[in-house]
Amino acid sequence: MNAFAQPEMPPLEILDLRHFSASSLRPVLEAENSVWGERLDWDYRASIRLLLQYLDARVLPGFVAVENGRVLGYTFCVYEDRKAVIGDVFALDDSEGGYTQTEIETTLLEHLIALLQNSPGVERIESQLLLHPHALHAALFRASGFSVYRRIFMDLDLRAVNVRNTAERVKRLPEQGFELRTWQDSDFQPAGSLIAHAYEGHLDSTINDQYRSVSGSLRFLHNIIRFPGCGVFDAQASHVLVSRGTGALAGLVLCSRVRDDVQHVTQLCIAARARGSGLGTLLLEVAGRSLAGRGFAKLSLTVTGGNDRAAALYTRVGFRDQHSFDAMVWTSLRAAQAPTSPSKAEAGRGSSLAHVAEPR
Ligand SMILES: CC(C)(COP(=O)(O)OP(=O)(O)OC[C@H]1O[C@@H](n2cnc3c(N)ncnc32)[C@H](O)[C@@H]1OP(=O)(O)O)[C@@H](O)C(=O)NCCC(=O)NCCS
Repeated sequence: MNAFAQPEMPPLEILDLRHFSASSLRPVLEAENSVWGERLDWDYRASIRLLLQYLDARVLPGFVAVENGRVLGYTFCVYEDRKAVIGDVFALDDSEGGYTQTEIETTLLEHLIALLQNSPGVERIESQLLLHPHALHAALFRASGFSVYRRIFMDLDLRAVNVRNTAERVKRLPEQGFELRTWQDSDFQPAGSLIAHAYEGHLDSTINDQYRSVSGSLRFLHNIIRFPGCGVFDAQASHVLVSRGTGALAGLVLCSRVRDDVQHVTQLCIAARARGSGLGTLLLEVAGRSLAGRGFAKLSLTVTGGNDRAAALYTRVGFRDQHSFDAMVWTSLRAAQAPTSPSKAEAGRGSSLAHVAEPR
């Protein structure tokens, strides 16, 4: 019996996700896809296909909520070494017993959080519930010892993007000591180093510990470039800035297609030594311009509340707030007391599902 159940309500059973086939979850996932489309202009079907494969393999840790034999909601997590990432939670809103969507999601999350916090191997839990509005599940996470960070989802109408002098500024880049070009496979390794350095001491590395080391940043790149969990990586729209003297990467913008006509910025960073001279703005405008030229209608991104410099940059380029959501982090007492050391994990060992519903 869960906390919301009244004596006359049919019981909501919370059961192990691994006992359920992909087909029994399909109605829930289809309803979720509609909400992703309405709220975020995001076609969630590629992520669902990936999820369904994991479900059919019966390997995904998580729970389903079942009422009278019908699956009403689900939640899942993935493990990366000693960290667990709660990938998603979603419930239908047509329970026969009158359980609300939020009640079902809360019950599912309570079970998953309890499971993870009582697993001796789990020292850290992260979650970014992109679809769910800010504050919806925050109280539950806070009550379970998590820190909660508000994040903002912004988007830009590419048909109205202000790119008047982008071409001239690109032409002047060699004088500033930089070369601009589209992403190449060989950028993978240097991009991992750039990201780890760009996020040193940054709020976002509190939320996502992959940013704290080169190996973690490579794992982040692996997830966004080689798997469709956070859209389909678009090398043509993704650009890098190379320092002409050293050949080192000085900045990058990475984009993924999340709907036929919509792209999402999964990463933007500029090396600390090169900041404040308009390069971040230029990279974003170059990506926007190339996407507009290919007929894309929208470009979206997320930014953490408090990353004011980045948010101001996005607003100047024309991005507007569309939605806000929460990122949650919990560390076990043991991990909090241990000296901090970068993850020794091999790059690329993370689950491809780590970025389903966890875009940057
Ligand atoms: C956010 C980030 C990408 C911005 O890159 P940047 O190259 O410094 O950005 P820009 O120079 O285009 O704009 C930033 C500042 O430079 C100023 N600027 C813009 N064009 C300029 C120019 N031609 N000459 C001088 N200054 C300029 C802007 O007014 C802005 O000023 P501010 O300090 O008041 O904010 C960079 O700080 C970064 O990598 N941060 C760490 C990672 C991160 O936060 N990424 C975003 C996650 S959502």
